[in-house]
Amino acid sequence: MTPLNDSTLAELVRCARAVAARAYAPYSRFRVGAAVLTGDGTVFDGCNVENASYGLTICAERNALFQMVGSGRTDVAAVVIYTPTPEPTAPCGACRQVINEFGPNALVVSVCDGPGVITRRLAELLPGAFGPENLGS
Ligand code: THU
Repeated sequence: MTPLNDSTLAELVRCARAVAARAYAPYSRFRVGAAVLTGDGTVFDGCNVENASYGLTICAERNALFQMVGSGRTDVAAVVIYTPTPEPTAPCGACRQVINEFGPNALVVSVCDGPGVITRRLAELLPGAFGPENLGS
């Protein structure tokens, strides 16, 4: 797994912050940016994209992960989530499930505009997860 050194983390935070500014969130006004680090050191970013049909909204994390899959990569080492809030925001349950698919041991780091940071392994955020192994995959 690619080590998450300080400069890599700083780059992921920079990417997540930048893409959050491009979130399409006219309904919630809650902008989220995510940066995914793959096992080979490539970074993919994604923002949340809402829709007038609310249920079609896609979270920033899944947007970034699906960009990664489109590139042919399926190995997640780390995910950084940025929200322009005073406190950090952990990923929603659906995004935890999708991160588990590609990075059951991924490092998940939530950052914000305040000093708080949440740093967890995905397995801590989603213990006992249902995953590919349950399907014999
Ligand atoms: N959202 C994310 O992008 N990621 C999460 O993990 C939680 C929620 C988005 C979805 C929606 O556009 C807005 O935040 C409010 O729920």
